[in-house]
Amino acid sequence: MTFRPNFIEMMWGQPDPNLLAVEAMQRASADAFQRWGAQTLHYGHFNGPGPLIEWLCARIQTHEQTEISPDEMLITGGNSLGLDQLLTLHTQANDVVFVESPTYYIAIHILRDHPHLALMPVPADENGILVEALRERIAQARQAGKRPRMLYCVPTFNNPQGTSLSPERRLALVQLAAAEGLLIVEDDVYRELNYDGAAPPSLWAIAKQHGAGQCVARLGSFAKSLAPGLRLGYMTAAPDLIAHIADAGVIFSGGGHNHLVAMQVAAFCQNGDFDHNVAFLRQTYRARRDATLAALDTYLPQCRYIRPNGGYFVWVTCPDHINTSQLVAQADAQGVSFVPGAKFYTGEGGRHQLRLAFSLYEPAMLAEGVRRLGVAMQLV
Ligand SMILES: Cc1ncc(COP(=O)(O)O)c(C=O)c1O
Repeated sequence: MTFRPNFIEMMWGQPDPNLLAVEAMQRASADAFQRWGAQTLHYGHFNGPGPLIEWLCARIQTHEQTEISPDEMLITGGNSLGLDQLLTLHTQANDVVFVESPTYYIAIHILRDHPHLALMPVPADENGILVEALRERIAQARQAGKRPRMLYCVPTFNNPQGTSLSPERRLALVQLAAAEGLLIVEDDVYRELNYDGAAPPSLWAIAKQHGAGQCVARLGSFAKSLAPGLRLGYMTAAPDLIAHIADAGVIFSGGGHNHLVAMQVAAFCQNGDFDHNVAFLRQTYRARRDATLAALDTYLPQCRYIRPNGGYFVWVTCPDHINTSQLVAQADAQGVSFVPGAKFYTGEGGRHQLRLAFSLYEPAMLAEGVRRLGVAMQLV
């Protein structure tokens, strides 16, 4: 990513580099070597290092009030790699993967890296994916002789919409998946960045509590709660699914992903720095979200937006005469960027929508970015 001079980049869903926990990670790295010596540099356990798995299991038990044992967890190289591993090992030719629509566009890229899969979009509104629409698509897939295999979704502080799936739909979705033998891949990357009270329960926790633990693989990541450069995350899922992934050749060859980084992060978490860090990020990003929404009210009163309760993004709907793919050039000329809505759809959609990220800048800069966007819109 390169910052253009005098330009406000509201397209990048990335953390502000000034907020990254450089010193605490430096300390944690030294602590990891002190605590575990040469084990930090050797091959690691297939599922990931014990200290990190133990810490994560304890945290999930406290924060999600859900029992979890270490064989239900695998340390991943981040959510992107976790998704890719699931697609590699748990799909086959003739399978359909359903995709919440709109969705995170890099997930679409990862899905398309598996050309044996048919992708079927399922619409989502302000309360998340439409479960009845998924039910219809599953029937259509079966009628076409295909196997409905997986659903990829971001039910909590969604990218791009900022929304969270409603509690009723969470349960209905899990029940549908359990009845249809569908595996839900729950991308839970923004869970820790909640700004208005606790994050909703994960689909994984709901499924476990209803005896349907086999139908959700939840992907958690340290990318947003700590730092994206770590390339580190975790998966919670049924023991046989975890064992299958841990047994893959790529892990069998050398142990879990990013072993050294996982040991450093284990020390960071054990030191109590994780909780401090997310508390700081929540407070900082909440102020940035609020500044962005206030600026939208001031400078873009003709647009509608969904108020996000967490994450990095606000999803804006412009008046009908504005095609956001064409607005990019005008915005560029004013010195601000955004992602046009069409990018988040596998087919048609998003013509009048756009995504703004509020993670990268302090409140005053965000307000200025929205003001510039307002000027760009007036010139259309
Ligand atoms: C919904 C979603 N999933 C996954 C990722 C990337 O996760 P990771 O860096 O752990 O691969 C992002 C980052 O932007 C994201 O928004």
